[in-house]
Amino acid sequence: MTYPLVRHRRLRRTSVLRSMVRETILTASDFIYPVYVTHGENKVEEISSMPGVYRYTLDHLEAEIRDIVAHGIPSIMLFGIPEHKDEVGTSAYDSNGIVQQATRRIKEWAPELIVMADTCLCQFTDHGHCGVVKKNEHTGEAQVDNDPSLELLVRTAVSQAQAGADVIAPSNMMDGFVTGIRAGLDEAGYSEIPILSYSVKYASAYYGPFREAANSAPQYGDRKSYQMDPANFREALREAESDVAEGADMLMVKPALAYLDVVRALKENFDLPLVAYNVSGEYAMVKAAAANGWVDERKIVLETLLGMKRAGADLIITYHAKDAARWLREVQ
Ligand code: PBG
Ligand code: ZN
Repeated sequence: MTYPLVRHRRLRRTSVLRSMVRETILTASDFIYPVYVTHGENKVEEISSMPGVYRYTLDHLEAEIRDIVAHGIPSIMLFGIPEHKDEVGTSAYDSNGIVQQATRRIKEWAPELIVMADTCLCQFTDHGHCGVVKKNEHTGEAQVDNDPSLELLVRTAVSQAQAGADVIAPSNMMDGFVTGIRAGLDEAGYSEIPILSYSVKYASAYYGPFREAANSAPQYGDRKSYQMDPANFREALREAESDVAEGADMLMVKPALAYLDVVRALKENFDLPLVAYNVSGEYAMVKAAAANGWVDERKIVLETLLGMKRAGADLIITYHAKDAARWLREVQ
C-alpha cells in the first residue's frame, strides 16, 4: 500500500491545533454597525424586511448606543430619515438636520464610539436620487447632475463634521467627491477628519431593504448612471485608484458577498484600510432563511463575515454586528 505523501489532516486533529494554525480571526473590533435615526418622538420602528434592525427617534437612541458600546463594537455608520424632503435635499446639510442632531447627542453619550456619517442626498431628496436632478432639454430625460450635486455633498460633509462626526463616508458615487469633500473639510478646519470612500459601489438589488428602511428609493429611474455595473471588475480598480489619488483614507467595496473578488483585488492593489459593506439585502436573506429554520443563523453569519475578512476586508459594516459580537464572545 502506498501512503499519502502529504497529510493535511495532521493539523486538523484537535481544536487547539486548529486554532493555532488559523489564518483569519474575526473580532467585534472589526465591525461597524449601521444605525438609523428618524425624526419625531417616541418611535422605535422595526424594519419589516430587516428583523432586529430598528429606526429610532432621538429620545430612544441613547439606550441603543449604550447597547452597541456594551457589545464591544467600536464604530457606527449613521443614517438619517428627515422630516422634510425637497428637490435639493436641504435637510442633509442643515446644522439641525437629523444626522447632525443625532451625531451631537451620540458624542455626548459615548465619546469614544467612532461615528461615521454616510454622506449622500438620497434620504433627503423628494425624488430619492443621490444628487440633484436635471432634465435633458432635448429628450426630457432626468439626469443626476454631477458638479452641482458635489457642492451640496461638500456642504453636507462639512456640517456632519461640525456636528462631531469622526469619519465622513460619502456614498453618493458622484465623480470627484473625495477631492471636493477633502477640500471642503480642510477649508472648514477639519483636516484631521478622515474620509472613508464608498469607492466601489455597484448598482445592486441588494440595497432593497435599506431603501425601505431609509425611505430612499428613487421615485423614477434607477441609479445605474452613477453606481457601477455589476459586470465590471477593472472599472473597480479605476474607481479605487482615483479615490486614492484624491486623498481617500479608507476604501470600501459594496455590496460584499457577490463582490469578494473585488475585495481581494483592492486588498492586493492598494495599501489603504479596506471596508466591506455586508448590505441590507444580504442580511435580509440570512434572516429569512434562519426564521424558516433552513440555516443555522449563528454559523452562517460567522462563516460569512469570516469569508469577507479572509477575502481582504479589514473592517465590515454589518447589521449582524451585535449578534456576531455576542456569539464571538461565547465561543471564546
Ligand atoms: C445611500 C446608501 C445606500 C446604502 C448605503 N448608503 C443605498 C443606495 O445607494 O441605494 C445601502 C446600504 C444597505 O443596503 O445596507 N446612497
Ligand atoms: Zn444615495
